[in-house]
Amino acid sequence: MEPKEILEKLTLEEKIGMIHGAELFSTAGVKRLNIPPLVMSDGPMGVRNEFEPANWKPIGLTDDYVTYLPCNSALAATWNRNLARDTGSVLGEEARGRGKDIILAPGVNIKRSPLCGRNFEYFSEDPYLTKEMAVPYIEGVQSFDVAACVKHFAANSQETERLNVEVEIEEKALREIYLPAFYDAVKKAGSYTIMGAYNRLYGEYCCESDFLLKKILRDEWQYDGVVISDWGGVHDTEKAAKSELDIEMSVTYDFDDYCMANPLKEKVEAGEIDESVIDEKVLRILHLMKKLHMFDGKRKTGVYNTPGHRKAALHVARESIVLLKNEDKVLPLSKKELKKVLLIGENAQCIHSNGGGSAEIKALYEISPLMGIKTHLGGNVKVDYASGYCREEKSEESGQNWQETSLQNGGGSIGKTDTSQEEALVKKRNALKEEALQLAGDKSYDRVIFVGGLNHDHDTEGNDRADMALPYGQDELISQLFAVREDMLVVMIGGSSVDMTAWEEKAHTLVWSYYAGMEGGNALADVLFGDVNPSGKLPETFYKNHMDCSAHALGEFPGGKTVAYKEGKYVGYRYHEKYHIEPLFPFGHGLSYTSFAYRKMSVKPGMVSCYVKNTGKNPGSETAQAYQLVQDGADVVKELKGFEKVYLEPGEEKLVEIAVEGNGPYAVGSSLFDIRLQGDIKL
Ligand code: BGC
Repeated sequence: MEPKEILEKLTLEEKIGMIHGAELFSTAGVKRLNIPPLVMSDGPMGVRNEFEPANWKPIGLTDDYVTYLPCNSALAATWNRNLARDTGSVLGEEARGRGKDIILAPGVNIKRSPLCGRNFEYFSEDPYLTKEMAVPYIEGVQSFDVAACVKHFAANSQETERLNVEVEIEEKALREIYLPAFYDAVKKAGSYTIMGAYNRLYGEYCCESDFLLKKILRDEWQYDGVVISDWGGVHDTEKAAKSELDIEMSVTYDFDDYCMANPLKEKVEAGEIDESVIDEKVLRILHLMKKLHMFDGKRKTGVYNTPGHRKAALHVARESIVLLKNEDKVLPLSKKELKKVLLIGENAQCIHSNGGGSAEIKALYEISPLMGIKTHLGGNVKVDYASGYCREEKSEESGQNWQETSLQNGGGSIGKTDTSQEEALVKKRNALKEEALQLAGDKSYDRVIFVGGLNHDHDTEGNDRADMALPYGQDELISQLFAVREDMLVVMIGGSSVDMTAWEEKAHTLVWSYYAGMEGGNALADVLFGDVNPSGKLPETFYKNHMDCSAHALGEFPGGKTVAYKEGKYVGYRYHEKYHIEPLFPFGHGLSYTSFAYRKMSVKPGMVSCYVKNTGKNPGSETAQAYQLVQDGADVVKELKGFEKVYLEPGEEKLVEIAVEGNGPYAVGSSLFDIRLQGDIKL
């Protein structure tokens, strides 16, 4: 039967059941017509664990462990579209294997400020890099008959007051920076579904917005897929029903009272709302089901936790690690020369998969840096560990899942830390610091490696960081460690840039890793010991301080009831380009254990090409980045318009062809600040 014919057979009640949550992650099906419910799950890094249908209590199964994939920021740091496709494919195949119809990913919001708690779920500050990663990711998901749900549409770049904050932004900047990834997600990748954002824009809640959902999505972009609300993002029955929203989901258990449940049914029965608006929604849902082969018995089966999926997670993690500094060429470390190694820092042994909000994962396993390094070195090398600092103990469990209470207090806050046991904590941290300092001073260690940064107490849904400072007294600890061990290597893990200025000059070797999935520790060890030549590049500016970020310097972050994006299009490096601000590390930066030379650039419409040669001794990959040179008042500023990653053996040279958007002139280089060639279009 075709969707239209099915629609004709449905009662109002049945239709209503299909357009709102009947469980926390599912709509109602219609048994008598063999219409199954639509079953959804978070999220970007793997398929989330199972909850009770009407309670945010994890059921506690042993069959919902999954492959834990690197977060979207890590994926973006690979600058590798194939890996984005692989990631999406793993997610889609696992989602199907777990019986899901829709996977609530990817998140493509722009990293407007380094402080946004969900930055790790997002790709980049740059619209081009974001969309280039999102498109193959979505295609990968959907190749397994599972719908991607690109989120959160739109301008949802902070957690503070996330449920209500009114975003004030000029439409031009909205279209140039915040919408392109959504456009490509629906136009190029054909994302079957899209999730509205919690916040408001131009006076309307995004999930009920005429401007976003009707004018832009349906009319301009001709989108015929399914629009799903964020959980609790719908506020008004009439507005939602008449908007282009198709499914209302929420975090509460009063499913029948959702705006698009009984309240809507009553309005239709009273003749206040025409049933045809519901029919349109149901029809789109039925078309989605058809696309997913939910009726014809031809649906892919999916599978989860395969060795192949774990291998894919490892590949992504390996390419995501960014070598920020290697001044003394200490890296790669030679395993043969090591007898005794000291690791310091809680992130050396921290498990990250189980935190962060709705992106949390019940990982089949997670290799920590400490475990990765130990397994790489084997039993003949002594690896000691001192945490050096510690996080706050979580205050007593209320027994409630955070999501249950997530609609309270505007749904988000800033700078939350648990200081309830402050005195005891200071004592404990001092003791840990002393222990670490003492060990680090022991010259019998061939190498001392500090592994610190953030964790999901800071990089988390529902909370923005107050500033970029490293938590837990790490600045002081690292500085003091350098006083006793000046050749200490530093590895930072986090979801967005952290302030490293207190000690960065002292660090001659500096490695960055985003939350890199279940194989993260192995990938890090691969890079440290040279089994893998690092090729990650920063997908965002690493600021010295958050005041060097335009959202803070020119605009507002997090604002109050409203937040003014006064910086307009000058987001991330665009601001630094225009206002001549020095970052700590620029967008696109990332070193290698080899070197690359660029020569002979040619430019024609839609294509920039040049030769790239590996001039060093190790095989390696380089991402050639093409920036458009844009005249902006008296300035010429660069904007990313293309990139291509190429693998080269020592001495090998390849012609690299980079598809580009826009018009020339272009500059090509190894990062925003390492431009090697420039040229204009030759017709
Ligand atoms: C988040 C969404 C998520 C949903 C379901 C919301 O709080 O904003 O990204 O998909 O919950 O867990």
